[in-house]
Amino acid sequence: MDSIVIKGGKPLHGTIPIGGAKNAALPLMAASLLTDGVLRLSNLPHLADISTMAHLMGEMGVSISMEGDTAQGGGHMGRVFALNAAGLKDTTAPYDLVRRMRASVLVLGPTLARHGHARVSLPGGCAIGTRPVDLHLKALQAMGAEIVLAEGYVEARAPGGLRGGHVLFPNVTVGGTENILMAATLAKGKTVIANAAREPEVADLAHCLVAMGAKIEGIGTDTLKVEGMESLHGADYSVIVDRIEMGSYAVAAAVTGGDVVLKGGRIDLMESVADVMRAAGVDVVEVEGGVRVSRKNGAIKGFDVMTEPYPGFPTDMQAQMMVLASVADGASMITETIFENRFMHVPELVRMGADINVHGRSAIVRGVKKLSGAPVMATDLRASSSLVLAGLVAEGTTVINRVYHLDRGYERLEEKLAQCGAVIERVRERA
Ligand code: UD1
Repeated sequence: MDSIVIKGGKPLHGTIPIGGAKNAALPLMAASLLTDGVLRLSNLPHLADISTMAHLMGEMGVSISMEGDTAQGGGHMGRVFALNAAGLKDTTAPYDLVRRMRASVLVLGPTLARHGHARVSLPGGCAIGTRPVDLHLKALQAMGAEIVLAEGYVEARAPGGLRGGHVLFPNVTVGGTENILMAATLAKGKTVIANAAREPEVADLAHCLVAMGAKIEGIGTDTLKVEGMESLHGADYSVIVDRIEMGSYAVAAAVTGGDVVLKGGRIDLMESVADVMRAAGVDVVEVEGGVRVSRKNGAIKGFDVMTEPYPGFPTDMQAQMMVLASVADGASMITETIFENRFMHVPELVRMGADINVHGRSAIVRGVKKLSGAPVMATDLRASSSLVLAGLVAEGTTVINRVYHLDRGYERLEEKLAQCGAVIERVRERA
C-alpha cells in the first residue's frame, strides 16, 4: 500500500484548485438510472469512489463513456462521463461493491422507481458507525414499495410502480433524502418530503433532476415537493464544487500560517466553517474566482464547534478542525452529533503530541505549542485528511499509511499541497 510522507513546518502559499464534489457526483451518477436518455455529467472528480460507482453501474448494464477532461483557462476542470441506462440488464447491486462504498445504496430508489424492482446489498457497518438504511426503506414503503430483507440484501418491489406520498424523515438523512427524491420523480402523483436534508449536494441533485424533466419545488429547503412524471430525459449537468475539499485546504492554510486562494471555491457553501475559522483568528474572504484563506499574524484562538446537518457545521470537517484546535491558544470543545463513532483520529493526533480528551460525544482539545511527526494511519477518509493537516504543521516527518482512504475523496492531494510549498510525497509500494 502507498504511503504519504510529509516534512512539516512549511506555511502554504499559492493557489489550490477545488474539484467537483464527490458527495454530489455519486447521487448524480445514480440519477442516470431514471432515464433511457444520456446524462452527461461534467466536473466529476477523479476519485476512487467515483470509479467504484462507475464499476457498480457498469455491472448493472449502464453504459458509461468518458469524454475526457474539460480544461478551461489552463485549469483542470474535471472529467466528463456520459451515462446511459437504456440497456439496464440487472437490478442488483452486489455485496462485493456495496461493502466498499456505502453510497452504492443510492441506486435503490431510482432503480426501483423505473423498473419496479431492485435488489441491493445492505451496506453493513463502516468505520464511523453502524449507519443503517432503515429511513430509506421506511420512506420507500410509504410510497408503496414492498420490502423484504433476505440473505443480506434489500429486495424491493413495486409491481404497479411507486405512488406519491408524505414522507417525514424523523432525522435528517442526506442519502435517504436523495434516494427518495430520485424515486419520487417517477412515482404516480405528488410526494412531499418533510425534514429533508438541505445539503448543497441534495440541491445539486434536485437541479439536475429538473434539467432531466422532473418537477420539484422547495429546492434548498427542508420540504421538497415532487410531482411524479411518466418519464425523464437525458441532460447535461456540471457537478457543484466540493465544499469539504475546500474546507480541508482552508484548514491547511490556516494551521500552517499560510495564505492560499481556493480556486473555484464558494464561500456561501462553507459559511459555518468560515465563521468558526474567523472566530479562531483566520482570515477567510471572497476573492475573484474563489476564496482566500490566510493567517499571517497571531496565534489561533480556541473555539467551540458542534456538528449539525447543513447549514450547520459539517461532520465531514470535524476531524480537520480538530487539528486547528490542537495547536490553538487555549481550549476548544468539539462535539459530534451526526455519527456515534467519529473520533478515531483522536488517538493518532495524540500520538503526534495533541492534548485531546474525549467525553462521550465531545472532545476537549487543549492547544499545544507544537505537534511532532510520527508514523500514523487512519480508518476513514476525513480522519486521514486530518492526519495530513497535522503532518503539515508538525515538526519532523509524518508518514501516513492506508492512503487509499485519501484517494477516495481527495484528487491529486499531494500535488495540490506541494505546489503551495508543502514538502510532501507519495511513496508507492513496490509490486
Ligand atoms: C452523507 C455523506 C457523508 C456525510 C453524511 C452526513 C455522501 C455520499 N455521504 O452520508 O459524507 O458525513 O452525509 O452529512 O453524501 N441514519 C439512520 N438511518 C438511515 C440513514 C441514516 O439512522 O436510514 C443515520 C446515520 O447513521 C447517521 C445520520 O443518520 O447517524 C446521518 O446519516 P446520513 O445523512 O444518511 O449520511 P449518508 O447519506 O450516509
